[in-house]
Amino acid sequence: MTRPVLIAPSILAANFAALGEEIAAAERGGADLIHVDIMDGHFVPNLTMGPPLVRSIRKVTRVPLDVHLMIEDPDRFVDDFVRAGADMISVHVEALPHLHRTIQLIRSLKIKAGVAINPATPVGSLEEIAADVDLVLVMSVNPGFGGQTFIPRSESKIQAIRALLDARGSQAHIEVDGGVDTGNAARIVAAGADVLVAGNSIFGTPDPAGATRALRAAAGAGVA
Ligand code: DX5
Ligand code: ZN
Repeated sequence: MTRPVLIAPSILAANFAALGEEIAAAERGGADLIHVDIMDGHFVPNLTMGPPLVRSIRKVTRVPLDVHLMIEDPDRFVDDFVRAGADMISVHVEALPHLHRTIQLIRSLKIKAGVAINPATPVGSLEEIAADVDLVLVMSVNPGFGGQTFIPRSESKIQAIRALLDARGSQAHIEVDGGVDTGNAARIVAAGADVLVAGNSIFGTPDPAGATRALRAAAGAGVA
């Protein structure tokens, strides 16, 4: 099956003093999603933003907002992020003893639910939840910071997750996050991913619109 590849620029690498313009540039470049990284200084060793920023972004773009929660106890905040305008929320399997409950909570709020998985977490940890999610977010770096190098082993992990989803009859997206650029996009897509998150390779360039288009073109080479 050929599925369109979605490009999700991550604003973590954007200039926050000019965030509206940065997002407008990504939108001009054809961004399908805006990826918003939420970090709490506990689950990951960095701090970012919260629901108020999501609310502000919601006002300046019609592009769906893809919220990646890298926080402890995400259940406390899911409702706030949905009210702020999140269209999809991903939570980490490593942060949740009651993952199924959290996924149901997100879905009960009528948005898409994703499960995120760290580089050291085995694919098997997704077995019991694979049929219940709209997307699997594969971390191809250790979460917490932009600008890290893609971990090559992520490619075989993407293949294994696509096989698991197929076995469950699931059409869930596979989103890949960390170190994605024009040099590896085709391989990532060929492995079975269909959503590419990109921070530095888009907002770390002088032309985020052009970089968004370039990433889509590069990804196209990996579509079967
Ligand atoms: C890292 C975040 C990523 C980050 C990716 O924890 O989840 O979304 O913004 O940045 P790049 O594309 O620069 O690796
Ligand atoms: Zn992210």
